[in-house]
Amino acid sequence: MELHITCIPGDGIGPEIVRETKKVLDKVAHKYGHKMIYKDILMGGASIDVHGVPLTEEAIADAKAADAVLMGSIGGNTTTSPWYKLPPEKRPEAGLLALRKALNLFANLRPAVLYDELAAACPLKEEISKAGFDMLIMRELTGGLYFGERKTIEENGVRKAIDTLTYDENEIRRIAIKGFDIARKRKKKVTSVDKANVLDSSRLWRRVVEEVAKGYPDVTLEHMLVDNCAMQLVKDPAQFDVILTENMFGDILSDEASMVTGSIGMLASASLNDTKFGLYEPSHGSAPDIAGKDIANPIATVLSAAMMLRYSFDLDEEADARELWTDIMRAHKVQFYLLKNDEARLNNWLTKEAPNEKERFCTHRYYQYLMKAKVYIWQEQYVQAGMHLRSLLDFADQYGMIYLGIQIRALEAIIHFRCGNPAWIEKLEQAILIAKEYGFIRVLADEGEAIYELLADQYGKQ
Ligand code: IPM
Ligand code: MG
Repeated sequence: MELHITCIPGDGIGPEIVRETKKVLDKVAHKYGHKMIYKDILMGGASIDVHGVPLTEEAIADAKAADAVLMGSIGGNTTTSPWYKLPPEKRPEAGLLALRKALNLFANLRPAVLYDELAAACPLKEEISKAGFDMLIMRELTGGLYFGERKTIEENGVRKAIDTLTYDENEIRRIAIKGFDIARKRKKKVTSVDKANVLDSSRLWRRVVEEVAKGYPDVTLEHMLVDNCAMQLVKDPAQFDVILTENMFGDILSDEASMVTGSIGMLASASLNDTKFGLYEPSHGSAPDIAGKDIANPIATVLSAAMMLRYSFDLDEEADARELWTDIMRAHKVQFYLLKNDEARLNNWLTKEAPNEKERFCTHRYYQYLMKAKVYIWQEQYVQAGMHLRSLLDFADQYGMIYLGIQIRALEAIIHFRCGNPAWIEKLEQAILIAKEYGFIRVLADEGEAIYELLADQYGKQ
């Protein structure tokens, strides 16, 4: 199958995460015999810099011509970037809003799932998180406050800003239908979120959703006020299946839901119209503070691409090709335990959960050696530490344990640094280089970075 995908690398970390995601897509294409044909277009700040506007007519036409659009992220630092000195309608975000409108992408799907591999990253107490959760936020995307009339005026010398929140019943109905349709394929529950105790738009929302629900007797509908929903998301996230809500509430709740999964860096999204066409983008922003360092985690973009395969191309098997990223997830998990010095969980993983004997054995040995090396470093016994690290390095190379390889090089860098040997720079660079090569394994780069920071803290920036 030929898949025509228009890509919007965008701003900040956008180009990095789109680049990594294309690698994953190419692997999937190779494995299943498809052909990906990409065309990059400019949007947001990148477009402002070249064309003076955040989205051109040509870019819209290119997006429309594709089977699907894959986006990274747009926007910059709102206090320092010159893009934010422009009038609001010329700023990066206006490009995204205009594209959503031009393509009629009224249904925004944001799944928030607690992956087993990353359960440890969930900030909730274990007694809550152990139930797991798998919810989908269905956010209305082309109406409400985002697209209502707005203006800033001056009345009797007083500045006044007005934003309008409007919904007509058709807009509500079509998103509700999408919500119920998808709930039918899931756990058959819709939680419609509104502020019906205050807003007229919410009262209409509730009425129309109830009318739509009549056509879905097999799906349970409940209504929830948005403030309560914000609370329930951290109190009992397992209760949710499909959360159906309007634009602004969906924007806010989806950030909250993503944090509950451990990080907004993992939340994918699909924005759909009435056809198979869709725009797929991570829910997170452009993270200008870490842009250009190749340390951004592209998981949300990779997962968005998986949604693209599923919803726009009906390639379910390809979308489920989790083997393409489970290894990375596993690396994340072990690394997480190590970084947190969470010996109890690590041991539990080693003895009970590790997927096979080899892995259990490797990780166990590796953990012991690594801990010993760390202790030696701490005791300033650098010769012994170095010996341990060298045998560990052979071991890591033998089993292709890339993340371990990076850790080892970073520790070697520390040893060289403490011994006054300038080779530390080279070692650290090696570690970062490998992390870059496997770009989307953010944790690996974190190790290099963490150690650099540690050195910088102790000895001043080099
Ligand atoms: C999102 C973003 C956008 C939104 C911004 C960048 C306009 O926060 O996709 O959630 O508010 O919709
Ligand atoms: Mg948002």
